[in-house]
Amino acid sequence: MKKIVLSFLSGLLVLGALAQEPAAKSFLLADGRDCQSLAGQWNYIVDPMDTGIYKYQMTLLKPNRRYFADRHYFVEESRQIEYDFSAAPTLAVPGDWNTQSEKLYYYEGSVWYRRTIKIPGQAGNDGKVAGNDGKVAGKRWFLYFGAVNYKCIVGLNNTILGEHKGGFTPFWFEVTDVLKEGENSLVVYVNNQRGVSEVPTVNFDWWNYGGITRDVLLVSVPKVFIRDYRLRFDGSSAEVSVTLDGGTVPVTVEIPELGIKCHTEPQRGESISFSFKFKKKTSPELWSPSNPRLYDIVITAGEDRITDKVGFRTIRTEGDKILLNGKPVFLKGIALHDETIGTNPGRCRSEEDVRALLEVAKDLGCNFLRLAHYPHSEQMVRLAEQMGFMLWEEIPCYWNIDWSSPDTYANAENQLLEMIGRDANRASVIIWSVANETPRNPERLSFLGKLIARARAEDPTRLVSAAMEKKLVTPHHGVVEDELIALTDLISFNQYEGWYDGTPADCDSLVWTIPSGKPVVISEFGGGARYGLHGDENKRFSEEYLALLYRKNLEMLMRLPGISGLSPWCLKDFRSPKRPLSGIQDEFNRKGVIDEQGNRKQAYYVLQDFYRR
Ligand code: GCU
Repeated sequence: MKKIVLSFLSGLLVLGALAQEPAAKSFLLADGRDCQSLAGQWNYIVDPMDTGIYKYQMTLLKPNRRYFADRHYFVEESRQIEYDFSAAPTLAVPGDWNTQSEKLYYYEGSVWYRRTIKIPGQAGNDGKVAGNDGKVAGKRWFLYFGAVNYKCIVGLNNTILGEHKGGFTPFWFEVTDVLKEGENSLVVYVNNQRGVSEVPTVNFDWWNYGGITRDVLLVSVPKVFIRDYRLRFDGSSAEVSVTLDGGTVPVTVEIPELGIKCHTEPQRGESISFSFKFKKKTSPELWSPSNPRLYDIVITAGEDRITDKVGFRTIRTEGDKILLNGKPVFLKGIALHDETIGTNPGRCRSEEDVRALLEVAKDLGCNFLRLAHYPHSEQMVRLAEQMGFMLWEEIPCYWNIDWSSPDTYANAENQLLEMIGRDANRASVIIWSVANETPRNPERLSFLGKLIARARAEDPTRLVSAAMEKKLVTPHHGVVEDELIALTDLISFNQYEGWYDGTPADCDSLVWTIPSGKPVVISEFGGGARYGLHGDENKRFSEEYLALLYRKNLEMLMRLPGISGLSPWCLKDFRSPKRPLSGIQDEFNRKGVIDEQGNRKQAYYVLQDFYRR
């Protein structure tokens, strides 16, 4: 029985017939799944006035009139149909729309995407056997989206599957009862308008790339399948819990290289867990940036079988030290946005885009990355795990969030759970961050306090923090104080001495008052420079100025008691509409140590030299 619910999308009244709630937070897409990529050219229609949803009186169109119906004017010649996806232009999926069309560069509004999905029937060469009702029988089918910015409604064969909000985390819908043999019509309504009560809110220092920005997959699984598993390792023993969906079947967990093979017969309920203690001789090599050791894990449950690669490591704090596998570690980091290097930057669209960024970070000598200010792609998290980077992952509670809105909190918490659900098994992730540069007030403390508690409940194995702020009580005295520090594992804050405050030389005399007893991580410092702009060390935006700023900040920050990590802002110049300065910024934030083409500024070598010493 479908629930027809009216839900609001940025003030729009949209029919959201939730055929079912989206599956739980952690649908598993590990290798071994039968996935069909839906990447490619999708037809699109730009719809600033939501004509595909509303009549001119702003009441909802009937199902056969809304664009989800995917009708064809050139076939029907119907007076009421004034759209036709098959005659419309196309956009590449995955990919933001801003960098694919001059007309969409600044566009903030609604765009409709459509593609067809062919499911071969009996005659099909892949053995999919159609049921007697024309549906593809014998399996369960899901549509998986890696990310859509910012909100969307998904329709398949003019059935509304549901909606999603949040531009950077995965979601999916079961389509078993809707998918049919032959041609299926997938229509996705996307809207990237900013909103005061959204997450992020209306003001942020990056480009508001809209669209279906990450992978779209059609996944088929057996009737009873492994919806999730969680690996937890405490240094000497490990626990693997397996969550089944659709019933209970015998489950086996194997880590062949460690001689582990656990098996259990059906249990009541759907979550089964195994724990095993490692014997001395078979204890795993621990994952670390210098030895990013991964092991194959194989989980079978009835007809379902998935494989993944996992790393074993521990992360915790002890006083003002961060301990990786029990040993103090210094986070030699850099912060970065999810944006490609190259002539036409946009959201990273592929593993190659991500690898290009990580190779620069490796050349810099980093062992740590702050993935700002929102969850990056799963490819980024997995590749970082393979290449040996520890990660700070973050949800976009950025600047002036609507702290008193319950819907805003629910949205933020959902994004947090979707991020953790996706990456909880990745050894690279060591820190969950709930916010960046948020004003201190009681509503914000309550909001972020709940998020921190939720993160710890969902995943007690990682550090939780936020990027806080400092204040200058005099031009020569920086103070870090924030009620949040009582709740976080790190004292992590952004400071811009030499750029927004004072000059680089002022770093020599700046005095700091910072709480003690927890590790200190500088989550941002830096300044702007245009690659190729030269002058003396007092000329702002010159490479020389930025190089001096890095030298002075590094000297100052390394004097701080408890300093345990740095993630300078930032790896690469990135698009931002808040940076218009013609001839220097040209709508790019120029705080990268490389520019958007990948050219290395002098500051790059200052940081590289520091990390390599
Ligand atoms: C802030 C913010 C960044 C921003 C940076 C800047 O600290 O966290 O997102 O880009 O400052 O001003 O460049």
